[in-house]
Amino acid sequence: MARGTGSDIKDIRLAKAGRDRIEWAKKDMPVLRTIGDRFARQKPLKGVRIAACLHVTTETSALMQVLSAGGAKVHLCASNPLSTQDAAAASLVAHDGISVFAIKGENRKTYYGHILQALAVAPHVTMDDGADLVSVIHTQKKEYLRDVVGGTEETTTGVIRLRAMADKKVLRYPIVAVNEAKTKHFFDNRYGTGQSTLDGIMRATNRLLAGSCFVVAGYGWCGRGLAMRARGMGARVLVTEIDPLPALEAVMDGFEVVRMAEAAPVGDIFCTLTGDIHVLRAEHFRRMKDGAIVCNSGHFNVEIDIPALARLAKSVRTVRPFVQEYRMRDGRALHVLAEGRLVNLAAAEGHPAQVMDMSFANQALGVEYLLRNRKKLGNKVYGIPVPIDKEIARLKLRALGTSVDRLTPEQKKYLASWEMGT
Ligand SMILES: NC(=O)c1ccc[n+]([C@@H]2O[C@H](COP(=O)([O-])OP(=O)(O)OC[C@H]3O[C@@H](n4cnc5c(N)ncnc54)[C@H](O)[C@@H]3O)[C@@H](O)[C@H]2O)c1
Repeated sequence: MARGTGSDIKDIRLAKAGRDRIEWAKKDMPVLRTIGDRFARQKPLKGVRIAACLHVTTETSALMQVLSAGGAKVHLCASNPLSTQDAAAASLVAHDGISVFAIKGENRKTYYGHILQALAVAPHVTMDDGADLVSVIHTQKKEYLRDVVGGTEETTTGVIRLRAMADKKVLRYPIVAVNEAKTKHFFDNRYGTGQSTLDGIMRATNRLLAGSCFVVAGYGWCGRGLAMRARGMGARVLVTEIDPLPALEAVMDGFEVVRMAEAAPVGDIFCTLTGDIHVLRAEHFRRMKDGAIVCNSGHFNVEIDIPALARLAKSVRTVRPFVQEYRMRDGRALHVLAEGRLVNLAAAEGHPAQVMDMSFANQALGVEYLLRNRKKLGNKVYGIPVPIDKEIARLKLRALGTSVDRLTPEQKKYLASWEMGT
């Protein structure tokens, strides 16, 4: 049964359950399905080797199948030690012949070992969520640079890291920043993170949100989504920011914007979504209420200074799956969810398929664009071309049974002119 070669997964016997779950997700991925049908006919990725470092979920499995249908040979590893869905990984190995190196709960050493195993495919294309493949290739495994044509990047934090590399002129191949597509961050970061982060918090804690004080750190795309959804569940939402523009937007959207020092003593639930480091730190933990819940939905597990919390605590114990209680010396208990890692992927299942449909349509078309334009692209970070973004939006609308009006010739002329006024 096992067809993927040299994989390292939890248990191949989970494959049947994994396939059922992948099929369930694919029902809500019509845009990716359309692209998959074309890829299967045209084989635009024939002979292309891809190393992918993504959250190994059912939706990612659907993307892997599309790449494989397009003719690519794919090695997949996880982009977070806690986000792997072991059944999906088993199904990819057993039924799709894809090599997967990912086990939910893997330690740091195994995590990085799996990245090296994914890279052993000697990729033409790297597909990242957080820039770990690019980072390893540029530091420890430069020999792989020879074959790489380019890479794609899924998330905000990865794009920030890659832009920093390009600015410092150390980036050695072009990157297509999938996150920059509107059909990605407008929907995945906002509605996907908004819903799935609440889902993770609720699955982990079973807490009632109505009437609670919910603190959202960061009012970017993800923070907007979470604040909107937490309010919808009846919470009193406080927002913290460092940038006056999103802070002003939060005020106009009807949220209270405060400094974290003010939020710390009143918050019941805190969630960071900033891409920044130590947004919650000792000075805040010292002021939090007994029973406060602290979690993160930003890419890396550095937004909450957990080592500082551990230093303040006299004991730590796991009280429920994904809930650790830090008992302070003064008797207060603070609860950290999912070890400060992405709570929506660790304690729930990540974004629903409806939004990953668009994110992964951008990934598939981003790879095709990269390969078609390889001679024209420099060692920079490129956005998804607008026509691709619009095409994905058009396909999604069609799948939703919605259509838009067409400009009349008169309107086209009017919109292209400057002479006409009132
Ligand atoms: N959980 C998920 O599934 C998921 C999905 C998409 C993106 N992400 C990650 O979430 C993070 C945020 O992504 P985004 O697209 O919303 O980014 P964004 O750039 O749109 O927003 C981040 C916001 O955080 C603010 N900020 C930075 N430092 C801060 C601090 N110390 N205190 C308060 N606010 C601060 C910034 O001013 C900005 O408004 C990134 O790490 C991204 O990779 C996670």
